[in-house]
Amino acid sequence: MVIKSYSAVSAAILLLLLCHLLICTSALKVGQTCILDRNCDRGLHCEACVASGNLRRRCTRIQPVNPTAKVKGLPFNRYSWLTTHNSFAISGEKSATGSTILAPTNQQDSITSQLNNGVRGLMLDLYDFNNDIWLCHSFGGKCYNFTAFQPAVNTLKEIQVFLEANPTEIVTIIIEDYVTSPQGLTKVFDAAGLMKYWFPVSRMPKNGEDWPTVDDMARKNQRLVVFTSKSAKEASEGIAYEWKYLVENQYGDGGMKAGSCPNRAESSPMNTTSRSLVLQNFFHDSPVQAESCKDNSAPLLSMVNTCYQAAGKRWPNFIAVDFYKRSDGGGAPEAVDVANGNLVCGCNNIDNCKANGTFGACQLPKADTAPGPGTDVVAQKSSVTSLSIGLFPLKFLFGTFSTTILLLL
Ligand SMILES: *[C@@H]1O[C@H](CO)[C@@H](O)[C@H](O)[C@H]1NC(C)=O
Ligand SMILES: *[C@@H]1O[C@H](CO)[C@@H](O)[C@H](O)[C@H]1NC(C)=O
Ligand SMILES: *[C@@H]1O[C@H](CO)[C@@H](O)[C@H](O)[C@H]1NC(C)=O
Repeated sequence: MVIKSYSAVSAAILLLLLCHLLICTSALKVGQTCILDRNCDRGLHCEACVASGNLRRRCTRIQPVNPTAKVKGLPFNRYSWLTTHNSFAISGEKSATGSTILAPTNQQDSITSQLNNGVRGLMLDLYDFNNDIWLCHSFGGKCYNFTAFQPAVNTLKEIQVFLEANPTEIVTIIIEDYVTSPQGLTKVFDAAGLMKYWFPVSRMPKNGEDWPTVDDMARKNQRLVVFTSKSAKEASEGIAYEWKYLVENQYGDGGMKAGSCPNRAESSPMNTTSRSLVLQNFFHDSPVQAESCKDNSAPLLSMVNTCYQAAGKRWPNFIAVDFYKRSDGGGAPEAVDVANGNLVCGCNNIDNCKANGTFGACQLPKADTAPGPGTDVVAQKSSVTSLSIGLFPLKFLFGTFSTTILLLL
């Protein structure tokens, strides 16, 4: 009898859960068990992070808080922006040449999707190729069909559409520049309709001063900030030479050693305060999607603090990662929120800043809106946990069933 009623209860719970996770959409919070992306609240998706030992699929963050919506009108360098490394190298895409791509990939979703999720820094590798400018990886310094993603104009047009539709948003493009054709970059930005958003080099602070405010940049419609790795292009094409304006730590494996944050060779030392902006790289030499959820979690947050110290107590304005959507909880969006909290209001997370408040005006985050990193399921209120009141085996069953369902999917 006991066993029978136990299984009846289990069956009822299973039905409820199936409804909850597969049929009805629901709004699970960070860390809660899910099966599909749509089970999770806005700004979250559903993933497991096997590299961290998390076999249970849970809701994790894919969007940072928009810092300018919280405290408006500060200088551009008083905000931090989620940045994708090799934003164009998207898994599963075929080369526009028709060739299969043999180069590594660094992201999962389109530039449009990245922008819609709050990515505001894009790292693009540009090459002369097929009488045009292409987004490409090189092989011995050269672009090939099997390493060429697509003509840059396509991606730049996606950015144009986003800027047009979002008249207060600012996007930064950081170019790894291999283009040698005369005025090559100018031509491709022009063809994409992006010149009208150009933030002029003449307005960039040269000696550590504050940038213009984001309001001012929006009012003047100078909402596209572009940096190149080629110094000569500042004079020839009016494209800012990156390391005159920002410091940047070592990229790749050299930038992922816990406790150290050395500058990359081209950059001044991290604590050079005559550069107003700080960029933090955090990704491996060879991108591995399955590993990135682990990298983008506690190690990233820890490196934000290490680089803060190395940069002369300055928080990063750009946090650049591979597979920005992957983490075991708060991920890169959480790291950006932490940087923004400190930059915008002097609090330890943007969620703790008072709306339009003054510097130092902190508040406790509203329950439900700002789960911190490592927030556990039990700590959160949700439909699933309230459902489980009085039904002790629910968690266990839930885990077992979702695993079973996953194996079947
Ligand atoms: C590269 O792709 C182009 C089409 O964009 C094609 O015409 C050309 O033959 C290809 N080259 C090689 C070496 O496959
Ligand atoms: C900057 O950092 C270097 C170590 O990288 C240190 O030797 C130097 O004293 C620092 N400069 C300032 C102004 O803090
Ligand atoms: C913050 O200021 C903006 C105008 O600058 C205003 O539209 C918004 O309502 C303010 N928000 C709060 C919570 O005061």
